[in-house]
Amino acid sequence: MLNVAIVGCGRIAKRHSELLGDNQIKGMRLTAVCDPVAEKAQAIGERFDVPFYTDMDRMMEAGNIDMVVVLTPTGVHAKHVINLARYQKDIVVEKPMALTLDDADAMIHACDENGCRLFVVKQNRFNVPVAKLREAVEADRFGKFVLGTVRVRWCRHQHYYDQDPWRGTWAMDGGVLTNQASHHVDMLQWMIGDVESVFAKSATALVDIEAEDTIIVTLKFRNGALGIIEATTAARPINLEGSISVLGERGTVVIGGFAVNQMQTWVFEQEEEGDSRVLEEYSVNPPNVYGFGHQAYYEHVVDCIENEKQHLVDGLEARKSLELINAIYESVETGREVYLHFQPRKCPLGRPA
Ligand SMILES: NC(=O)c1ccc[n+]([C@@H]2O[C@H](COP(=O)([O-])OP(=O)(O)OC[C@H]3O[C@@H](n4cnc5c(N)ncnc54)[C@H](O)[C@@H]3O)[C@@H](O)[C@H]2O)c1
Repeated sequence: MLNVAIVGCGRIAKRHSELLGDNQIKGMRLTAVCDPVAEKAQAIGERFDVPFYTDMDRMMEAGNIDMVVVLTPTGVHAKHVINLARYQKDIVVEKPMALTLDDADAMIHACDENGCRLFVVKQNRFNVPVAKLREAVEADRFGKFVLGTVRVRWCRHQHYYDQDPWRGTWAMDGGVLTNQASHHVDMLQWMIGDVESVFAKSATALVDIEAEDTIIVTLKFRNGALGIIEATTAARPINLEGSISVLGERGTVVIGGFAVNQMQTWVFEQEEEGDSRVLEEYSVNPPNVYGFGHQAYYEHVVDCIENEKQHLVDGLEARKSLELINAIYESVETGREVYLHFQPRKCPLGRPA
C-alpha cells in the first residue's frame, strides 16, 4: 500500500483526494494534505480524516509518505517538485509539468539525482477511445500518416480567470494552449510522432487575460504528415468539443465528444475482427471535462511501481509537448515558422509579463 500525500488543495485536488481518500485506487491511500491556505487543507484533511498542514516541508518531515502529488499552480510546479525531490519519494505532478524548458530540465534532473520517479498526469491518454486509437497506431493500421488534427472548443468566462490571480498569466499559467489544450497537444504528438515545425497565430478574444484564449497552429511532422491544432476557451455558451482526428493512407479515426470521449469514426481498408463494434464499445460519457482518466492514470502509476514498469509519461516524455507548446508561442511572437529543436527567445511563457 502506497501512502500518498497531496500538495495543493485547490480545484483539481477534489478529484485526486476523492480517488485517493475514498480508496478508489487499489494499492494507494491518502495519508496527508497541505496548502498554505489553512481552510483548504483543513477541508480535505477533515473530509478524509488525514493530517493536514500549511507547509509541505513540515508534512514531509512528519513521515508516513511514499509518494507525493503536486497540485499547485503550474508556474510553481518546478519549485515544488525540486524541493520535494530532496525527500527521495516518488512524485506525481499535474499537467503541464512546467512552463519553461529550463524548469522542466531542472525537475527531471532533481528527480533523477534523488532517485525518485516523476509521473506527469496526462489522464486523457487513458480515455477509453484514445487508448484504442493508440492500439491502432502501434499496430501500424494507418500506414503512412497524412493528417492529424486536435480541436478544443471550451467555454471559460472572465469569472473563471478571475477566481485565482495566477490564471491566464504568462508567468504562472499561459493560455488555452498551455492549460486546457496541453492534453490534446500531447495526444497529437503521441499519435502522429515528433514535430518538425510549427506556425501559429493567437488572439485574446473574449476575456481580459495576459495570454491567449484562442489559438490556431499548423504543424509539419518529421514523418511528413501535416497537423492542425485549434483551441479556444471562447466557445459560447457551453463546452462543445475536445477531439482528435487521425488520417492515414489505410484508415481514419475520429474521436469527439466534449472530452475526447466518443469514438465517432473508425474505418480501415483492412477490416479486423471487432472493428464493427468499436463505435459503440469505445465511447463513454465522462462526468466532466477532466474525463475518467485520473483513475486509470493512478492505476497505471501503481502498476508501474509494483511491477517495475516504465511509465507512460515521465519527465522526458512530458517535456516533448512542453517543447512543442514553447515553439508554438515562439512562432506567435516572431510571426515565423519555428523548427524544433529550438532555443526559446521570444516565447513569453513562464516569464513575468
Ligand atoms: N489534468 C487535468 O485535467 C487538470 C485539471 C485542472 C487543473 N490541472 C492542473 O492542476 C494544477 C492546479 O490547478 P487547480 O485548478 O487545482 O488550481 P487551484 O488554484 O484551484 O489550486 C492550487 C492550490 O495550490 C495551493 N498552493 C499554492 N502554493 C502552495 C504551496 N507552497 N504548498 C501547497 N499548496 C500550495 C493554492 O493555495 C491552491 O489551493 C495546475 O497545474 C493545472 O493545470 C489539471
